[in-house]
Amino acid sequence: MTPVHFLLVDDLEENLLSLEALLRRDDLVLLKARSGDEALELLLHHDVALALIDVQMPGLDGFELAELMRGTERTRRVPIIFVTAGSADAQRRFRGYGTGAVDFIQKPIEPDILRSKVEVFFELYRQRQQIAVQRDELAAQAKALEEAGRRKDEFLLTLNHDLTLHKDERAQQDVLLREINHRIKNLFALTSGLITLSARNAGSIEELSSDLKARLRALADAHQLTLPDLASDCPPDGSSTTVMAVLKVILAPHACDGDSRISIGGSDTAISSKALTSLALLLHELATNAAKYGALSIPTGLLKIALSVTEETLRMDWHEFTDPPSRGLSDRAGFGTALEKAVLRGLDATLEKHWRPDGLSLSVEVPLLSLVR
Ligand SMILES: Nc1ncnc2c1ncn2[C@@H]1O[C@H](COP(=O)(O)OP(=O)(O)OP(=O)(O)O)[C@@H](O)[C@H]1O
Ligand SMILES: [Mg+2]
Repeated sequence: MTPVHFLLVDDLEENLLSLEALLRRDDLVLLKARSGDEALELLLHHDVALALIDVQMPGLDGFELAELMRGTERTRRVPIIFVTAGSADAQRRFRGYGTGAVDFIQKPIEPDILRSKVEVFFELYRQRQQIAVQRDELAAQAKALEEAGRRKDEFLLTLNHDLTLHKDERAQQDVLLREINHRIKNLFALTSGLITLSARNAGSIEELSSDLKARLRALADAHQLTLPDLASDCPPDGSSTTVMAVLKVILAPHACDGDSRISIGGSDTAISSKALTSLALLLHELATNAAKYGALSIPTGLLKIALSVTEETLRMDWHEFTDPPSRGLSDRAGFGTALEKAVLRGLDATLEKHWRPDGLSLSVEVPLLSLVR
């Protein structure tokens, strides 16, 4: 803590020296002024805990000095002890004096009285200093707490953000894994169906092999249409930009030369490469299910598709006929159903399924705007 300063004001050097001798201690700095002006000068540069002022001085007397001190913000609260020659008048002149502590001590000065009076102000000042230090410490702690609170909020915000991202990433990964799993599982199911289909028509191993290769190539083409980047980079040639063409590519692996189990008819419409991926995905799901459970899973099954285009809508009616009835008719929803729903949302399209005893009927309606945007 900074040392306490007292100001001693007396025009007589010997009085200053005797005051100094009486008050000297290690934690106290005694500033000596030989006039009121000198005192004011010192007060400009030092905070003092007490001013001991001789009342009778040439020039500015003690009271005038006190008036000036009270008139200045910096010094108005400095406690003052006047050193008087003992006249009661002097004390009366200061009765009712408003601001700050004022006391009197009479000459000849009694050392014990002086020391005990001075001690009160010394202690008061020390306490004020301690309070100021504590106040500064509390303010610093409050600021540090505020800062910590702010950093905690920022941290929580970031953490929350990260967790959300992480959650989103996890959810995306989850969907991706499920989709990969779904595609691989279906690929095995489709391949096994295609082997059966090829085997049914093949007269020799060579025929079986070349028919199967062609179907697998067609399957790869159909699959390619469902991959966004590949679909937009390398659209299949010719009529790839119409719905009918997409249907043909998707169903090609399941078609048989000269057999009419798959028929596609009606009016056609153009489709943009962006919508192509979504539509191909939807048709791929329907074709895969037909090959796993429906009309394309048995040699005698029939699939009839009718397209109709009105001013604003493309409608696709999809009818499967299975004889004997297909084994898979049900409302169970697998990942394929979820994928279908997502695609329909993306295309603003609707799909209605009707489970007949002899096969699935469904109709899809897509706004033409969704197909060309
Ligand atoms: N064309 C269809 N003919 C008969 N049943 C079908 C047909 N399409 C779907 N189903 C029935 O609807 C159910 C749900 O189909 P969905 O595509 O959601 O699942 P999944 O194909 O069985 O499995 P996943 O799609 O997860 O690979 C199928 O399990 C099947 O029972
Ligand atoms: Mg499915």
